[in-house]
Amino acid sequence: MVHFYKEGRSQDVPTLVLFHGTGGTEHDLLPLAELISPESAVLSVRGSVLENSMPRFFRRLAEGIFDEEDLVRRTGELRDFLDEAAAKYGLDRSNMIAVGYSNGANIAASLIFHEAVSFRGAALHHPMVPRRGLKLPELNGLPVFIGAGMNDRICPPHETEELKSLLAEAGADVGLHWENYGHQLTGTEVEAAAAWFAKHFRQG
Ligand code: MLT
Repeated sequence: MVHFYKEGRSQDVPTLVLFHGTGGTEHDLLPLAELISPESAVLSVRGSVLENSMPRFFRRLAEGIFDEEDLVRRTGELRDFLDEAAAKYGLDRSNMIAVGYSNGANIAASLIFHEAVSFRGAALHHPMVPRRGLKLPELNGLPVFIGAGMNDRICPPHETEELKSLLAEAGADVGLHWENYGHQLTGTEVEAAAAWFAKHFRQG
């Protein structure tokens, strides 16, 4: 898969795995990674599906209606890619934190929904419920940050609450941060994600 890799300044801090929004690239969220954990290695993936030449991580049938078969297939492809990239770059596969925005948050959430051990934690900016009617794996206190907008028409507040409940019922430790805005990613939301990261993953 097309991706960008940056070596970390320390082996001890988790690797950040970045997933951009629709129409983005592997470079979009690099400033976020710098704000959340500048010492971390960064593995940033480009979605391999094109919608009118805009990269995405899985197909959709219409806005907000996902092609489930494709979602499941792409989730498996990404899992394999992360395993391979960890081996290639000498990264600890069990010490990866997902950071995703919009479509990228949805594929990161899908990885968590489908795989028993996908990430050590996840910062999901404006995620939706990736699939319904699925038994989630036991998440054993997995720290998950959700950034959401009270006026987000792509991901309305009731869907954010639904995702939070599904993750929490599976045992995740969910921190929900609300902004008074829409689907956009704001500076204060990123600051909240950085504080969440520091609380859960920064030593000393
Ligand atoms: C999606 O399709 O994943 C969501 O609607 C978010 C988006 O990319 O617009």
